[in-house]
Amino acid sequence: MVKVGIVGASGYVGGEVLRLLLSHGQVEVVSATSRQYAGEYVFKTHPNLKGVTNLQFSADDPLKVASKADVVFLTVPHGLSCKITPKLVETGVRILDMSADFRLKDPHAYEKWYGFTHPAPDLLGKFVYGLPELHRSELKGAKYVAVPGCMSTAAIVSLAPLAKAGLVEKDVIVDAKIGSSGAGGKPSLSTHFSERFGVVRVYKPVAHRHTAEIEQELNYVSGKSVQVGMTAHAVNMVRGILTTSHVMTSSKPEVAMIWKAYRGMYKDEPFVRFIMDKKGLYKYPDPKIAIGSNFADVGFEVDPYVNRIVVFGAIDNLIKGAAGNGVQSMNLMFGFDEKEGLNFPALHPV
Ligand SMILES: NC(=O)c1ccc[n+]([C@@H]2O[C@H](COP(=O)([O-])OP(=O)(O)OC[C@H]3O[C@@H](n4cnc5c(N)ncnc54)[C@H](OP(=O)(O)O)[C@@H]3O)[C@@H](O)[C@H]2O)c1
Repeated sequence: MVKVGIVGASGYVGGEVLRLLLSHGQVEVVSATSRQYAGEYVFKTHPNLKGVTNLQFSADDPLKVASKADVVFLTVPHGLSCKITPKLVETGVRILDMSADFRLKDPHAYEKWYGFTHPAPDLLGKFVYGLPELHRSELKGAKYVAVPGCMSTAAIVSLAPLAKAGLVEKDVIVDAKIGSSGAGGKPSLSTHFSERFGVVRVYKPVAHRHTAEIEQELNYVSGKSVQVGMTAHAVNMVRGILTTSHVMTSSKPEVAMIWKAYRGMYKDEPFVRFIMDKKGLYKYPDPKIAIGSNFADVGFEVDPYVNRIVVFGAIDNLIKGAAGNGVQSMNLMFGFDEKEGLNFPALHPV
């Protein structure tokens, strides 16, 4: 059994990593840390785990976790992972970082998008961007993985086939809608029920931080420079993300070519589904039918009126947008079946 430690296991992402790993056949969770809840049963904080485990949160510092584990999940806020990681790297432990701290290859991008000077720029090149759909071969046997952001995952997975096929000519506009768990478990005024319930709140009209990784990965897959404009909205869900992206084209988009691009890239992907039906309620991706699963649902429509391809991506932000993608990447790192621990459908209705 591979021994796993989770630093920051009391948060929403840490709780989901824990839930997934407790039913994973190849790993054992040896430490799940929390400063606030050390010594308490994890099910006191994650009540869905009652009857599943009697594990208790530990007060282990990250180095202690590394001394017990073969691989460490860092499920802590950005700006903290990059301080912890250099010490962990010295121990030889493998790392999956769920924060943004090692997703971007360019250290200057951290000044621009996150407002801090990266303290370990030399390590950025050692991390693989943990999106199996784009980086599967690099993930196999990788030591260090930066798990993508949630909205970035929905946008990148849904747009990558078009970028790869050369159908993204210049700019892309990404409109993202996200549920409240995207803000983490720590309460604030903006997540207070009275203020959050019922909203369709534009919370980041321009310059969302995830823009940087969406551009980085679309550039990688297309081999050219793509510019992304992104607007993010908080909507009335607990889980889930829908990205609607607009790709303007210089001529009328051809449906057959677009289909070929999606089929070519994703026909064998275990966690990408095409949602494009002529009939029924769910003609296009909708987080409602992805929630609870590791699936990324993608679909598109063409708009010949203004020469536009409208692209949809729907995921559960805590699973394909975080913990599930992390576990999928871990499976590749250790040579396990890629679907191990993730082989369950979404919930319906939810
Ligand atoms: N929520 C999402 O949808 C989502 C999706 C993708 C990626 N992410 C990323 O995943 C990470 C975790 O997000 P989250 O939503 O789970 O946040 P969260 O619910 O606020 O959890 C944060 C965790 O970090 C721990 N922590 C905070 N400060 C710490 C410190 N100084 N030292 C040690 N532990 C500390 C907290 O534990 P204690 O206070 O109990 O010690 C808690 O367990 C973030 O980097 C986030 O950007 C989140």
